[in-house]
Amino acid sequence: MTVYHVPVLVEEVVEGLITNPTGVYVDATFGGGGHSRAILGQLGPEGRLFGIDKDPDAPLQSLTDERFQGIRGDFRFLEELLEAWQVKEVAGILADLGISSHQVDVPARGFSYRWDAPLDLRMNPYEGEPAWAWLKRQRPEALAELLRTYGDLPKSRRLAETILKHWQPEFTTYQLTECAYKVYGKKAEDFLSPLFQAIRIAINDELGALEALLEAAYRLLSPHGRLVILTYHSGEARILKKHLHRPAEENPVTGWKRPRWKLLAKKTPSPAEIEANPRSRSATLWLIERV
Ligand SMILES: C[S@@+](CC[C@H](N)C(=O)[O-])C[C@H]1O[C@@H](n2cnc3c(N)ncnc32)[C@H](O)[C@@H]1O
Repeated sequence: MTVYHVPVLVEEVVEGLITNPTGVYVDATFGGGGHSRAILGQLGPEGRLFGIDKDPDAPLQSLTDERFQGIRGDFRFLEELLEAWQVKEVAGILADLGISSHQVDVPARGFSYRWDAPLDLRMNPYEGEPAWAWLKRQRPEALAELLRTYGDLPKSRRLAETILKHWQPEFTTYQLTECAYKVYGKKAEDFLSPLFQAIRIAINDELGALEALLEAAYRLLSPHGRLVILTYHSGEARILKKHLHRPAEENPVTGWKRPRWKLLAKKTPSPAEIEANPRSRSATLWLIERV
């Protein structure tokens, strides 16, 4: 049996996130529930945890603890999702960005260059359109720009043109891989992960979802509440840095004052963790406190 997902930097996440064992916490990216289980292990009997995931495969129902509530939904609507449970303030929010191992390891999800399947790449395969259909509507300049920005891919214009030239209905993971070989030759192997990542970030609007989550976190976090974000690429890190530099600001209409955030620590997995779980290698943990 394959493991759904091996959680990253578990001790560091739990230690940074929990400041009050009776508080309300959110795991915005439940995945296989590894972090959620560790958080519950440190909460007292009155603590509460909400676990959110938009992927219908994420086994929210497998966690049967009366302090836990699973929510199938998109974390970009965090305030609305919590409001349904009468929650307006939380002591901590965790977001472990990116994909679960399950998503890449199940061939039919169309996330991986290791198996041939229609290129899909959606976190929730019942929402929106698969990547192969989305690609059909792209213009070469826009696709090239996105491959450069989200994947740091060289020769991005040629790659975009090659993909669009070879596009066909139900364009597959292998066909996308072949396009990379046409452009990069033997070096293509080095560019497959960033290529799939770039298209995935675009079709799930991952950076837009992160922005929305952070905006909600300003309003939801209690004073000295904690935000723990695990990022996996530079686009996510850039957004966090931008928010960390924002001054406190008052809304002239509502009078609501956006709080400031302080970076308490930044951590990466140890060589031992990377050896045991190579998928952890690009993770960076950002521990942030609402001032
Ligand atoms: C890296 S995995 C999380 C793994 C988890 N921490 C664990 O311990 O198993 C990221 C998860 O976030 C989910 N996800 C990504 N974007 C999301 C969004 N906008 N809303 C809700 N869930 C999202 C994915 O479906 C995936 O299951």
